[in-house]
Amino acid sequence: MSQKPIEAGEQEAPPNNDCVGNEETPTRPSSEPEHHSGSEASKNSTRSLSGSFNEEHFENGRRYCNEIYYMPNDEAEQTRLSIAHQAYLPILDGQLTLAHIPQSTRRILDIGAGTGEWAISMAGLYPNAEILATDITTVFQPGSGPPNVEFELDDAEVEWTYNEPFDFIHMRSMSGAFADWDSIYAEVSKHLRDGGSFEIADQGMIQLKREPPDSYVKAFNGALQSAAERAGRPVGLDHLRKARLERAGLSVTKNKTFEVPLGTYSADPVKKIAGKMAMIAALEGLEAVSLRLLTRHLAWKEEDVRNLCEKVKEEVMNPSTRACVAVQFVVARKMMV
Ligand SMILES: C[S@@+](CC[C@H](N)C(=O)[O-])C[C@H]1O[C@@H](n2cnc3c(N)ncnc32)[C@H](O)[C@@H]1O
Repeated sequence: MSQKPIEAGEQEAPPNNDCVGNEETPTRPSSEPEHHSGSEASKNSTRSLSGSFNEEHFENGRRYCNEIYYMPNDEAEQTRLSIAHQAYLPILDGQLTLAHIPQSTRRILDIGAGTGEWAISMAGLYPNAEILATDITTVFQPGSGPPNVEFELDDAEVEWTYNEPFDFIHMRSMSGAFADWDSIYAEVSKHLRDGGSFEIADQGMIQLKREPPDSYVKAFNGALQSAAERAGRPVGLDHLRKARLERAGLSVTKNKTFEVPLGTYSADPVKKIAGKMAMIAALEGLEAVSLRLLTRHLAWKEEDVRNLCEKVKEEVMNPSTRACVAVQFVVARKMMV
C-alpha cells in the first residue's frame, strides 16, 4: 500500500535545534588500532580481514564491538536497529532511498550496514546489482542474505581499498561514528564512478515542540553533545552539511529534512505509523546512545545515566510535549572531472 509520504523541508535542518553538532572538524586519533592484519582475504578489496573484528567488550551490562564506537551491538541494539529500519520506510513512502537508482545499477556499497536489512531489501529490488554491505561488527549472519548481497567486515575509517568503483554508496544512521567526516567523504568520492550517487541519511536529537522549562530532554541532549565532542566524534546532523560534501567533489542534488513525531499524536495517518516505530526506536535508543559516552567522557555513574534516560522517556511519552526528531536525507552525485 502506497501512502502519501511525510512532507519534507528542502533546506538543511536549522542550526540551533539540538539536531546539529559543532562546527569543528576533529582529526582522526593516531592511537586508533589498525584492524587489518589477519589472513582471511577479502574478495572485494585489496585488504585482508582480521580476527580483531570479533572482539566483545562488556560495559555496564551492554556489549560493544570495540573500544571506540559508542553504540552497543547486543541483541537489544539489533532489535532497535530493525525497528528503526521500519521507522525509516514510511518517511520515504516505503522507498529505501531518495536517490534515483536505475535498474541497470551494478554495484552498491552500504557502509555501516548494521543488521543488513537495508542492503537485503535493496538486493531484492535490484537483483542484477551486487550489494556490498560492510560494518565493523558482525550483527548480520554471513551467507544469510540473498545471493547478490555480500557482507564484509571493514572499518570505514581506514583507507578504502575496494577493487572497483560503485554506482551508489549509502550510509544511514552513522552520526557519531566517525572522527573525520571529510576523509570519509573523500573516500566516498574516490570510490564512486563518475556520475555515481551517494546518499547519507541521519536523524537529529529528540526535540520537544512544547518544552517544559529545564526539560530532561534538554539536559540529555546537552550531555550527549558534550560527551561526543570530547570523544572526538560529534553527534547530530552537522556532517550532512552541503558544503562538506561539495568539498569532496560531491554535488548535492537532494536535501530533505522530515519532521517525524515521536508517538501517535499526529493527525496524519502516515506520521502516526512512522511515529509509533520512531518512538519505540528512540526510547530504546536513549540508553544505547548515551551509556558509553556519558560514563566514559563525562564520568557519570551508570545509574545516573539510566535515571536520566527514564526521565527523558517520561517526557517523550507525554503527548503534550510533542516530541519529534528531524530526519535528514542528502543525495549527492560525484562531479565529473
Ligand atoms: C546506528 S547503526 C546503523 C546501521 C544501519 N546503517 C541502519 O541504518 O540500520 C551504525 C552502524 O555503523 C557501524 N560502524 C560504526 N563505526 C564504523 C566504522 N568505522 N566502519 C564501519 N562501520 C561502522 C556500527 O557497527 C553500526 O552497525
